[in-house]
Amino acid sequence: MASTRVCAFDELEPNQAVRVEIGDIPIALVRDAAGDVFAIGDTCTHGDISLSEGFVENDTLECWAHGSMFSLRTGKPLTLPAYEPVPVYQVDLIDGDVYIDPSIILAV
Ligand code: FES
Repeated sequence: MASTRVCAFDELEPNQAVRVEIGDIPIALVRDAAGDVFAIGDTCTHGDISLSEGFVENDTLECWAHGSMFSLRTGKPLTLPAYEPVPVYQVDLIDGDVYIDPSIILAV
């Protein structure tokens, strides 16, 4: 699958997550305070909860349901109760737009 434009970089608020879907793949898209953009699987591995409804803290996205914090860089849960990672997808910034290639999984 090729990269897909999902939004403009300026549409992303710092330290907030938004949900995007490419095909049937739900993705949590996060711009951190430094301006880096991350794309991880949006479904918590502990339950059927959208991680993009959670909280960004430093380089993590916290599930609002039971508090597992997933690394935006590795997809690994850093706190219980989740113990399985979510996928991390390739993000490219091109001419002010954000592109994701969901076929390229960087870490699981
Ligand atoms: S559903 Fe996410 S930590 Fe329980």
